[in-house]
Amino acid sequence: MAKNTSTKNTAEWNYAASPESTSHIRLEKKYQLFINNEWVSPSSKKYFPSTNPASEEVLAEIAWANDVDVDKAVKAARKAYQEVWSKLSGAERGKYIYRIARMMQERAREFAVIESLDCGKPIRESRDVDVPLACNHFFYYAGWADKLEYAMPHKKPEALGVAGQIIPWNFPLLMAAWKIAPALAAGNTVVLKPAETTSLTALKLAEIIKDSGLPPGVVNIVTGYGDTGAAIVNHPDIDKIAFTGSTNVGKIIQRAIAGTHKKSTLELGGKSANIIFDDAPIDQAVEGIVNGIFFNQGHVCCAGSRLFVQENIAERVIHKLKSRMESLYVGDPLDKNTDIGAINSKEQLETIEKYIRIGKEEGAEIYQSQCAIPSKGYFCRPTLFTGVSQSHVIAQEEIFGPVLTIQTFRTVDEVIQKANNTPYGLAAGVWTDKGSRIFNLTTKLRAGVVWANTYNKFDPVSPFGGYKESGFGREGGVHGLGAYLK
Ligand code: NAI
Ligand code: MG
Repeated sequence: MAKNTSTKNTAEWNYAASPESTSHIRLEKKYQLFINNEWVSPSSKKYFPSTNPASEEVLAEIAWANDVDVDKAVKAARKAYQEVWSKLSGAERGKYIYRIARMMQERAREFAVIESLDCGKPIRESRDVDVPLACNHFFYYAGWADKLEYAMPHKKPEALGVAGQIIPWNFPLLMAAWKIAPALAAGNTVVLKPAETTSLTALKLAEIIKDSGLPPGVVNIVTGYGDTGAAIVNHPDIDKIAFTGSTNVGKIIQRAIAGTHKKSTLELGGKSANIIFDDAPIDQAVEGIVNGIFFNQGHVCCAGSRLFVQENIAERVIHKLKSRMESLYVGDPLDKNTDIGAINSKEQLETIEKYIRIGKEEGAEIYQSQCAIPSKGYFCRPTLFTGVSQSHVIAQEEIFGPVLTIQTFRTVDEVIQKANNTPYGLAAGVWTDKGSRIFNLTTKLRAGVVWANTYNKFDPVSPFGGYKESGFGREGGVHGLGAYLK
């Protein structure tokens, strides 16, 4: 095999820019709170900007809900639950959910462009992953609404009541769909809070909810920062908290609801292992590694951020990985050629840069791709560290950026022990030609999802969730319904 040692950016990767048009999207200058199917100004009278992380420009002003506003939303959700939603048949609820899915699909392009503008993710991903998957979640759960007795045989499934849902900024629309669709199918009403840097697609979804004729108060969307989220968590008339975000905030929420009637599901951070054995198809595995950590700028809770390579193929894998990194395009999220878009916020970029500094100080060897990055906006080159040991901070803590640590192993037992040696347990990947080895590892890796010879694949039908400090409860599939039923 010819050995290509060049890892420099080559001209063959220089495509002409191919930006997606923004002419068809409609954004208001100012967004109010969505309560009772109406746009309500916040009693705090405060607004905050939502910016485009690729240009640092303000896209819109967003209402900042305080506890008075949250109380209004919870009251609307309670009234809708008692007077309308709990009295409808499952088939009727299903029709509304199905209608929402159809309307989202019709406006898919608008959703994709707004997601990329507000969040920084490449248009290719928002167009091909986030928006279609979000629609699929509504379609999927629409089908369950009149079949709850089949989902929970020999039980009398009953809704919990009002669900408070708090979501992060890495998959804004998709997380809203993950939360809202099963809650409605199971017969609950909802108060949802998007993350402060990415409220826009949830507010667009509110437009659809209003147009779909969903009864007022069934879905309420309140925007704001952590204090708005805390007001939802601490509201006495909430029956269930569904949270996706950092392990720190997950712990705060658990403390806040301890001893109350509130049920909860928490989907928290991760430090997932991607494991490559020497019999794996190397080129596919390298694609899987790239997809596992550089997909969505590494803003993925189940990102394959720790790579374990069998020692005898480490040199080859690392060499191929470095050349592949050189072909990745970092830049304008709206450009259809872009592989890696903008880091979601200045704060998150600073966090990632802090970890890169720590990695160098710890003595690990850094490699970053040579590509040019825009001078404006928040961007980070794909980065890998070799010479990493278990005790290094960069191998222990969630970085939530395009930063990969590489370690080697010799035996199966050794890699299982190393992969499990983390407080997290969200996901893992195994690359090998041997089926028996896959089964051996899937039973021994303490992770909610284990992918075999692939990575970062999602489907509404399959449950998702963590072990240990990655949280508890499952979203997606029949399991996801259980989280919203008595
Ligand atoms: P975060 O956990 O603070 O934010 C997630 C959501 O929780 C947002 O909607 C936020 O407004 C809300 N929130 C914040 N404080 C709250 C409180 N006390 N009570 C209720 N809700 C509250 O995450 P952040 O600060 O944006 O990111 C920090 C780190 O968290 C990242 O660097 C990453 O490591 C991790 N993270 C993990 C995610 C995951 O999917 N597992 C998603 C986002 C962040
Ligand atoms: Mg934004």
